[in-house]
Amino acid sequence: MRHFLSTEDWSRPDLQAMIDRARLFRDSPAGDALKGKSVALMFFNPSLRTRSSFDIGVHQLGGHAVVLDARGQTWPVEIEEGAVMDGEPEEHVKEAARVLSRYVDLIAIRCFPKFQDWTAEREDPLIMAYARHATVPVINMETIVHPCQELALMMALQDRLGDVRGKDFLLTWVPHPKPLNTAVANSALLIASKFGMNVRLLIPDEVYRLDERYMSAAERFCAEAGSRLTVTTDPEEGYSGAHAVYGKSWGALPFYGNWDAEAPFRAKGAGFMIDDAKMALTDAGVVSHCLPMRRNVKIADSVVDSDAFLGIEEAENRLHVQKAIMERLIADAGQ
Ligand code: CP
Repeated sequence: MRHFLSTEDWSRPDLQAMIDRARLFRDSPAGDALKGKSVALMFFNPSLRTRSSFDIGVHQLGGHAVVLDARGQTWPVEIEEGAVMDGEPEEHVKEAARVLSRYVDLIAIRCFPKFQDWTAEREDPLIMAYARHATVPVINMETIVHPCQELALMMALQDRLGDVRGKDFLLTWVPHPKPLNTAVANSALLIASKFGMNVRLLIPDEVYRLDERYMSAAERFCAEAGSRLTVTTDPEEGYSGAHAVYGKSWGALPFYGNWDAEAPFRAKGAGFMIDDAKMALTDAGVVSHCLPMRRNVKIADSVVDSDAFLGIEEAENRLHVQKAIMERLIADAGQ
């Protein structure tokens, strides 16, 4: 049984087929792939786009969505094998996943890392436990990667740029008052490299390099496509000639859970907001962000309100690509 946990598990032709199918859904939203079926949407963290677009997408495909506020409204779950459950968790994932699988045909999960121990959290333990024990496909709605966002981004890039192979994609760290999850940044690296773009990572300091797992995956995908991955701390080098700019903020992994010590490095990125002067260095580049986004901290109003901004299209595409993903998983599961 195939899950949709990371785009690393899927081939580029498979992902392109989902994007192509999403374009058909954009033109003709109704379908019956989920007729008589149910989908559990488990949210351990807040959401506007993911929650709305999945719920509406399930409805448009003829199904029923069970939206679970999983932090507070469902029982705390243990994921360790052989745990003596004398702490907070009231049930084990082995029961939770199998029981939910008797009710629904797909399980989608949003569970951000807790900013405690990256060595453990980089293994994405909760969604992996659900994927091991569920008997229906599991979809990642953002954990340490955000694969649905990846497809929405690539669909928006292709709509604006045409064939993206060989085009220059800049992933730039942008300021934010708080350290954030690396999921969307990891995902931007994965999808741009998988689709053959030249990927530039612009960071205020080397401490903002992303986890080696994603850096090396992007290097491998670029090598396979004949493109390249480069890392720079120089905004002029990063922006020069770029065809697409993607802004995201994240916490530096060497200071994971110890954010006070990160502050001096974060200060080095104070000038990293995406603004008109930086965009003028690009090759008439487009710009996007996964949203939510702090205006005039991450991206200047003038850029967000320009025709170059793809963030609204990218957000709309979440609805279309997620329907394509659900349809594909149901078909693959032979349901
Ligand atoms: N981009 C995204 O996942 O948005 P939400 O956090 O609002 O779902």
